[in-house]
Amino acid sequence: MCGIIGYCGHRPAVPLVLEGLSRLEYRGYDSAGLAYLQFDTLKVIRSEGKLSRLVDKVAQNANTFAPIGIGHTRWATHGLPVEKNAHPHKSYNGVLAIVHNGIIENFQEIKNVLLEKGYEFYSDTDTEVLANLIADELDNLFLEKFAHKFSDDRDFFVKKAQENFQEFKADMEEAFCRALQKAHGAYAVVMLSPLIPQHIMAARLAAPLLMGIGVGEYFVASDVPAFLPYTREVVFLDDREVAIVSTSSFEVKNILSRKIIEKEIHHIPWDLQGAAKDGYKHFMLKEIMEQPKVLRDCLVGRLQNTDILLPELDKISIPERIRIIACGTSYNAGLWAQYYLEQLGQIPVSVEIASEFRYRKPIVSKNELIIVISQSGETADTLGALRLCKELGNTVLGVCNVLGSSVAREADVCVYTQAGPEISVASTKAMLSQMVVLLLLAMYLGQRKNIGLEKRKIIIEELMRLPDILEKTLPVLREKAQIFAYKYTFAKSFFYLGRGTAFSLALEGALKLKELSYIHAEGYATGEMKHGPIALIDPDFPTFALLFDDEYFSKVRSGILEVKSRQGHVITLLQEGTTLDNDDLWYIPKTSLPEFLALPAMQLFSYEMADYLGKDVDQPRNLAKSVTVE
Ligand code: M6R
Repeated sequence: MCGIIGYCGHRPAVPLVLEGLSRLEYRGYDSAGLAYLQFDTLKVIRSEGKLSRLVDKVAQNANTFAPIGIGHTRWATHGLPVEKNAHPHKSYNGVLAIVHNGIIENFQEIKNVLLEKGYEFYSDTDTEVLANLIADELDNLFLEKFAHKFSDDRDFFVKKAQENFQEFKADMEEAFCRALQKAHGAYAVVMLSPLIPQHIMAARLAAPLLMGIGVGEYFVASDVPAFLPYTREVVFLDDREVAIVSTSSFEVKNILSRKIIEKEIHHIPWDLQGAAKDGYKHFMLKEIMEQPKVLRDCLVGRLQNTDILLPELDKISIPERIRIIACGTSYNAGLWAQYYLEQLGQIPVSVEIASEFRYRKPIVSKNELIIVISQSGETADTLGALRLCKELGNTVLGVCNVLGSSVAREADVCVYTQAGPEISVASTKAMLSQMVVLLLLAMYLGQRKNIGLEKRKIIIEELMRLPDILEKTLPVLREKAQIFAYKYTFAKSFFYLGRGTAFSLALEGALKLKELSYIHAEGYATGEMKHGPIALIDPDFPTFALLFDDEYFSKVRSGILEVKSRQGHVITLLQEGTTLDNDDLWYIPKTSLPEFLALPAMQLFSYEMADYLGKDVDQPRNLAKSVTVE
């Protein structure tokens, strides 16, 4: 949920840490901080609020060429988003500082033990408890060897460490591992100490952490964009691994056995441009506008005449049932895919919210294929569901965007969505890419079952045309989005209605509007309106309706007219060649896959609304891009 970074190298660390944090700010942005070593003294600078406030504070306070530093941008889990709770957290005796992403679930028990020993705490966080637990383990080792603790004679220890640095490195590593063995929950943690001035130590358990391997420099971070300008060579840390990183080398060990682990270095194809705004006012707008490219990238190498090529799946047997599990926008993509998987694959499909699924002791049959969908591949609830399904012995297929993420690695097989880095907290291009991949999957299953060739041909032809159609249409959609957004800024609430494949899009339209502009919005199945919700309709409660030229057309049209006849204002998104007796008609070109145009239209509507209302489009309040806590 938070973004963390550590740097060890030949350049000044502080500007690099700040730069890295600016690329991780999407992960949390209620406070930020960094730590570095000024000779043998640990310096920590922290600030409440967005990263820009930390940048100002650093400019006033830190004139340093320190080559080692750690940083953090926070999404609060324990304690208010105020400076005292911002990371890094020092141990009470100043022997170390850590940044942490995750939750130490038994922090209160550990804190009680430390309080009894006389430790003092200055924040409300579980992270400060972890910092002190490591310091306590270190003091236990020092007491055995030197008969006194770090706080008894700081200068003695600093001098000793300068004389015999290797020994102190081993002690530090031992204390770090011992403390982490006692911590339950989730952590990605990076530590800095004046006793090992050329090093940082990092470890993970159920929270993302990877290393960037540069030339004479190393990074540890929550996500690749943090160090993308400097290296694309990446080592993914696994659970219960600790990395000991110096300015000239790194070593990875198992936290429990302390055995060295040989790690593979992966080359990441993402480039810096993909993670930059490219002249757009917001990442979200850029990510909406690049959807034609995303569509093309998702199709490359996966279509051959009437064949769908997904070689990753060739070894998977055709399931009797499919269960899709995901959260948020990824869940909406799954709900959308249900229609196509059932139609084209002729396989019954159920769709589940991950946080509900994992705790209700679900009955899952052995012949069900589990599909987990996640842009980040790190969403805690989705990962929890994935692990549960694997324990139950089911095959899990991951549909994931981030290379090497936990979902990608833990699923039995992963199909990547090829959306490129998605920085804006509101997911846009990721959903479109998930829809393409899931549609390909539906056709692939039909192909393996030798059914639906004619339908497949039509869809493939349409998919090939779509990137060009979308490219031409996006600027027009944006103009219309501006007009409607400005007209409807009066609204305090909105309905989004859709039926068939448009239902899940209605849910997504509502989610985008509420998360970006903080306007209450509800997505509903058009046919359900008359069962209660229509009571809410009045001139102040507008509706955004999706009217596709499909088998539901006349029923949906009646539903919209029912809303209108109760004085409800309606924006109707419909396809060229159809019409309706309504004022606010929003036409999209005719295609047999209208969802791929309707989705960007709704994204643009929410974007324009939020921008017009002056909301923080890329970093909406209370949210974080990747929800790595439950
Ligand atoms: O990374 P994931 O796809 O697993 O994320 C799931 C949701 O947290 C995510 O889609 C969230 O709903 C977005 N903020 C929606 O814009």
